[in-house]
Amino acid sequence: MNAFKPLVFSGVQPTGNLHLGNYLGAIRKFVALQEDNDCIYCVVDMHAITAQLVHSDLKAQTRSIAAAFIASGIDPVKHIVFNQSAVPQHAELAWVFNCVARIGWMERMTQFKDKSGKNAEQVSLGLLAYPSLMAADILVYRATHVPVGDDQKQHLELARDIAQKFNIDFGDHIRKAGLGLDITVGDEPVHAYFPMVEPLIGGPAPRVMSLKDGTKKMSKSDPSDLSRINLMDDVDAISKKIKKAKTDPDALPSEVEGLKGRAEAENLVGIYAALSDKTKADVLAEFGGQQFSAFKPALVDLAVNVLAPINNEMRRLLDDVSHIDAILKDGGERAGAIAQKTMDEVRDIIGFLR
Ligand code: TRP
Repeated sequence: MNAFKPLVFSGVQPTGNLHLGNYLGAIRKFVALQEDNDCIYCVVDMHAITAQLVHSDLKAQTRSIAAAFIASGIDPVKHIVFNQSAVPQHAELAWVFNCVARIGWMERMTQFKDKSGKNAEQVSLGLLAYPSLMAADILVYRATHVPVGDDQKQHLELARDIAQKFNIDFGDHIRKAGLGLDITVGDEPVHAYFPMVEPLIGGPAPRVMSLKDGTKKMSKSDPSDLSRINLMDDVDAISKKIKKAKTDPDALPSEVEGLKGRAEAENLVGIYAALSDKTKADVLAEFGGQQFSAFKPALVDLAVNVLAPINNEMRRLLDDVSHIDAILKDGGERAGAIAQKTMDEVRDIIGFLR
């Protein structure tokens, strides 16, 4: 049982261009969650310097993610959109969490192992502590639900471990300060200051694959730009990339089972389904038996219909950055007010004079 007030939080790093996989896998989910939840969406610029310290245009990248959020339909007035570094309480809580978490927890993260490789002694300390900052992002708002890709599941489990250890180690202090709530974790009753966050994984298109290889995820780091559709691609680029997308020589099947072993066909059908809010079965009921030469133009039309308005709105927003900057500033102030209340309480719990 989680008695904390439901609150959605998620973050996107301002590194590289957003593509269709980010849009269908994450941003569309963020948009949908706004209907029934309070949501905080953050451009995590402090995470962007963990793997690579110097970026040629971090400000532009940050604005571009914020513009993508807003152009896709996130409402920055009803909800909160801001950049992480504007709210220094994230870093402040991350320091506390650095002292809660154990080094071994961090070294076990598969993303850390992948990114550091044989070089684990040479990567930044920030890369190792990355999940601790991520836990702070979420818990400084005491957020309860976090929409993420499945690659972030392990980091969210770590956020739960940090919350759990903080709640238990400071249990007496939390009570003495008159803070916290009684919850159960598994079967154990715990007096908790921080909630146990729940990942929200999945959705209509959790995994959009490369247009050049249906077994690889669509990725901003793929050297071939033809492998992905970027949110900033214009109509010609979208159309060219879909026309050049890898396929096989067969017609589309009429049933979903017929997509087995046909990774590229499955990916294109999945993209069509997600963009049109249909199931793959619906799409195959319509296109089963047809060749890719007929299906691809339909997919181009659909993709352009959905993406061109977002693309135009992003361009409009990025044309005059004062509007985006004002939105981020306002979001940062509203987020900061919530975060400051948490940090005041955390200071009391720990015993920092204030
Ligand atoms: N690590 C996440 C990613 O790379 C980004 C992120 C940072 C995040 N802080 C977060 C996601 C907090 C969810 C909640 O995708």
